[in-house]
Amino acid sequence: MVENSSEKNDERMAHAIETTDLRKEFDGLVAVNDLSLTIGRGVLYGLIGPNGSGKTTVIRMLVGILNQTSGSATVLGERIPISENKPRIGYMPQEMGIYTDLTVHDNLELFSDLYSIGREKFRSRQQALLKMIDLEGRKDSLVSQLSGGMKHRVSLACALVHDPELIFLDEPTVGVDPELRTGFWEYFEELKRQGKTIVMTTHYMDEAQRCDIVGMMRNGRLIGEGSPSELMRRADADSLESAFLAYSREGGA
Ligand SMILES: Nc1ncnc2c1ncn2[C@@H]1O[C@H](COP(=O)(O)OP(=O)(O)O)[C@@H](O)[C@H]1O
Ligand SMILES: [Mg+2]
Repeated sequence: MVENSSEKNDERMAHAIETTDLRKEFDGLVAVNDLSLTIGRGVLYGLIGPNGSGKTTVIRMLVGILNQTSGSATVLGERIPISENKPRIGYMPQEMGIYTDLTVHDNLELFSDLYSIGREKFRSRQQALLKMIDLEGRKDSLVSQLSGGMKHRVSLACALVHDPELIFLDEPTVGVDPELRTGFWEYFEELKRQGKTIVMTTHYMDEAQRCDIVGMMRNGRLIGEGSPSELMRRADADSLESAFLAYSREGGA
């Protein structure tokens, strides 16, 4: 018995995330339908699926914003519901998660204070992140004066300022121009090289293609999961998009 439970613990620690029959209903609407998935450490995992398929709701349960209706999950070995703003976790919400009446610098500082990362580290993190989001010259601008795409980039930097080991990015590249999108991806791949785990949602199939593992969601269920090449091979499809359609026809009514 004791041995079993410690084995179970080791297993939990080996994964960044594990969900078992995770479910969320909103007034009878099933947003996430008994979802079971496992995400290994150091993996870049992409959740894809049409609007309303439950991607954001899954992430919100995992970061401690929403309580599940039933089922369970562990995040870095801890059972949900976890408290928000865990230092080891970064979260970039789909909706604006930053303060528009503050400057870019003040937003970054606020997020770093939330996690008490210290002055020195903040300064170097700020510099690197401003470079990555290409806003070095706008550090002292009010966020309200930035374009939508720029705000989005600041939001990404705020999610990363405390150097978390598990990062949730909900549609991080929406409204970001192609050149900068390439820059973002170089950074995501750098984070992966550092051994971080990234869970992201995206609408762009070329981005899904770059993930290690893709989870395809439809109506709150996982209808397919695997590496992009596996998913395409199993569906006998030549693109992830047609693979998605094939999996939808198969079982994801
Ligand atoms: N706070 C909420 N209250 C009621 N319904 C919600 C709420 N959040 C999400 N939903 C519903 O849950 C479903 C899944 O939404 P969401 O998780 O945002 O999907 P996605 O991120 O894949 O677009 C949708 O039908 C949406 O309208
Ligand atoms: Mg969403």
